[in-house]
Amino acid sequence: MNMIAKKFPTAAFIDGQWVTSAKTFAVTDPATCAEVATVPDLGGEDAGRAIDAASRALPAWSAKTAKERAAIMKRWFDLITAESESLAQLMTTEQGKPLVEARAEVAYGASFIEWFAEEGKRAYGRIIPTNVASKRYLTIKQPIGVVAAIAPWNFPIAMITRKVAPALASGCTIVVKPAAETPLCALALAKLALDAGVPPGVLNIVTTSDAAAVGKVLCDDGRVRKLSFTGSAAVGKILYRQCADTVKKLTLELGGNAPFLVFDDANLDLAVAGAMASKYRNAGQTCVCANRILVQSGIYDRFAASLVEAVNKLAVGPGLEAGNTIGPLITKEAIERVETLVAEAVKNGAKVLTGGAVDPAGPLFFRPSVIGGVTPDMSIVREEIFGPVAALVRFDTEAEAIEIANDTPFGLAAYLFSRDLSRAWRVAEKLDAGMVGVNEGIFSNEVVPFGGVKESGLGREGGAEGLEEYLEVKYICLGAIDE
Ligand code: SIN
Repeated sequence: MNMIAKKFPTAAFIDGQWVTSAKTFAVTDPATCAEVATVPDLGGEDAGRAIDAASRALPAWSAKTAKERAAIMKRWFDLITAESESLAQLMTTEQGKPLVEARAEVAYGASFIEWFAEEGKRAYGRIIPTNVASKRYLTIKQPIGVVAAIAPWNFPIAMITRKVAPALASGCTIVVKPAAETPLCALALAKLALDAGVPPGVLNIVTTSDAAAVGKVLCDDGRVRKLSFTGSAAVGKILYRQCADTVKKLTLELGGNAPFLVFDDANLDLAVAGAMASKYRNAGQTCVCANRILVQSGIYDRFAASLVEAVNKLAVGPGLEAGNTIGPLITKEAIERVETLVAEAVKNGAKVLTGGAVDPAGPLFFRPSVIGGVTPDMSIVREEIFGPVAALVRFDTEAEAIEIANDTPFGLAAYLFSRDLSRAWRVAEKLDAGMVGVNEGIFSNEVVPFGGVKESGLGREGGAEGLEEYLEVKYICLGAIDE
C-alpha cells in the first residue's frame, strides 16, 4: 500500500465501526496509474445497514443543542487542520491535483465545518403577527432527518464537508457515498470525525464501485428524507426520478457550461488572470470552470496572445512534485473525451493556439491548451470539457454575448470582465446562472450560496442558504389565547 494511504483507514465506516469486505476495489494514483490501496466494495445491503445506523443515531444527535453539536464539529475542524498536510498528500495521491491546490482544498473543506458549526446556532424560526385576536403563530426549524450524500471525485474533501457540515450542524445524521475514484479522503475525514467525538451512526461512509446499486437504496428508502448529490446532470436526473416515490428533498449540484465574457473595456491582465484561475484549476475539472471564453472582437487578439503566454508557463506533471501546476485527468475516458472535443473543433475550423494533445508526462496528462476560432455550434462549447482546454469564441455586441452565453440548458457559473459598472450590473442580471463572477475568476467559499439554475441543479450549498436545505419549517398555531 502507498505510504500516505497507510496513515489513514481503508475500511468503510458504518455505525462508528470500520467495516471490511471480501470484495474490494482498487484506488489508483492518476499520475502514475499505480494502485494506492484497496477499499471495501459494499453493496445495497450495506447501504441499508448504514441507513439503519443513521436512523438509530438521529434522536440523540438531533436532541443535542446546536452548541453541543458545534463543540464536536469544532474539534473535528481542529483535527483536520492539524492533519492538513497529510490529507493534502492523500488527496493528491488519489485525485491528482497539484499539492498546492490540495492544501487549499483541505482548508476550503474544513472551513465548511467551522462555519456551519456556528451557523447551526442561528436556525431561527419566526413569530408571525396574528390576524385573529385569540391566536398566535410561530415557526420553528427542525432537522429534516436522515440524509444521504453522493459526492464527486474532483473535490474529495470539500464536496463532502459542504454536505456533511450543514447536515450535522442542523441535527441530521448522514450516509455518504464517496466517489469510487477518491474514497480515501472520505475515510480519513471519518477517522478524524470519530476522534473528535462524532457519535456512532451520525456519519457513515459507504465505499462502493457499484454507485447505481447503492444510490438506488439511498433513494428508495423512505427513512432518508433528503439526498444531496454533486455530479453529472445525467446521473442527477436518474436520482431525481428515483427520489420521487419517497418525495425526498433534493440538492443537486450538476454540470455547468460556464460562459466567461471578456468585453473590449476589460482590464486585460485581470481577465487573463481570471481565465487562468477559472479554467485551469484542478486541470479544468471543476463544475465552475470557464467552458466557453467569449471575447469581444476589439480585445480578442490581445487576450488570446496573453492567455497563450500565461498557459505556456504552466508546469505539467505529478501533483506531488513541487512546482507542477497541472496534474493528470482522472481517467483514460476523461482524456479520450478531451481529445475528441479538440479534434472535432479543429476538424470544424478551430485552431490550436497552444497544447492540443496528451502530454509526455503520462497517459492521463493533457497539455494545457488554448483553442481559437471556436464557434458556438461546436461540441467543445456545447459540452462540458472537464479538461485544461480554453475554447475562445469571438463576439461583437453585448446582446450577442448574452445570447450565446444563455444558449445552453445549464446555468451554474458565469463570469464577466468589464470596467464599465453599468454593463457589469446589466450583464450579471441577464446571465442565466446561479453564480456570477464580475472581474473575478474564483468565487467559491463557505459563506456564500453555491448552486445553479436550469439543468445545473436544485438548491444551494454553503452560506445561510446551505443550512436551510437540511431544515424543515414547522408552523405552530397557539389557539384559545384569552383577551
Ligand atoms: C465543483 O466543481 O463542483 C466545486 C467547485 C467549487 O466549489 O469551487
